[in-house]
Amino acid sequence: MLGAFQGMTAAMRAAPRIAEAFRSGEGVGWHEHDPDLFVGVERFFRPGYNAHLVNEWIPALEGVREKLERGARVADVGCGHGASTIIMGKAFPRSTFVGFDYHQASIDAARERAQRAGLSGSVAFETAAAKSFPGKNYDLVTFFDCLHDMGDPVGAARHVCESLAPDGTLMLVEPFAHDETERNLNPVGRIFYSVSTLVCTPGSLSQEVGAALGAQAGEKRLRAVLKEGGFTRVRRATETPFNLVIEARP
Ligand SMILES: C[S@@+](CC[C@H](N)C(=O)[O-])C[C@H]1O[C@@H](n2cnc3c(N)ncnc32)[C@H](O)[C@@H]1O
Repeated sequence: MLGAFQGMTAAMRAAPRIAEAFRSGEGVGWHEHDPDLFVGVERFFRPGYNAHLVNEWIPALEGVREKLERGARVADVGCGHGASTIIMGKAFPRSTFVGFDYHQASIDAARERAQRAGLSGSVAFETAAAKSFPGKNYDLVTFFDCLHDMGDPVGAARHVCESLAPDGTLMLVEPFAHDETERNLNPVGRIFYSVSTLVCTPGSLSQEVGAALGAQAGEKRLRAVLKEGGFTRVRRATETPFNLVIEARP
């Protein structure tokens, strides 16, 4: 919760810019926020990833845990400070992980964290956007709480589809949401809508296309994005009160 407060107070520091962006429609990029937002978001998400990622989310995907145990190639897109990449790197030492994010300062922080965790051999971080990150034949590509922040989520999904091995998997983790707005008007949904208004939606609008999915996109909309991006098999793998975990295969 302290991470959430740190992130939200940081987001509020951009309030005058955000208000102006509502008038102009130009949006506010993630990278334009106070750096406390990047630190706070990582602190907020990391405990959930620690609790669920290795024990529940990866086992919920078809055949992925076995591949990671044997040694697989993984890209973690929109990795921020690399919490998810580092957790997976520690759990699956035979696999190699590359975290990509368009925000250079986050990549610098992620590199430092991986080094401190003693993972420099198997975990790397590179600055790259979701539509153009390098590499082919990934066994697994992951997006943790970031697809809806992107201007062109369909373009990102298309690039992932082309970057995966033929039997590869995309794991998409997004904030939990129902498809109907009124069903999201509960304490968790209201917090996500607030964050979405201040950070996620202006962030997406600042990029090309400006799809503005928002932090409460819901499974139906996310499925449509993935299908348009070229995925043929999409299913909800699992969920928590805060997360939707979607598995997509080419
Ligand atoms: C809410 S943060 C989540 C960060 C991280 N995945 C986590 O769970 O802690 C969203 C991240 O998406 C990144 N991002 C936004 N648009 C992007 C794009 N087009 N390509 C790559 N990364 C992007 C931001 O820089 C930011 O690090």
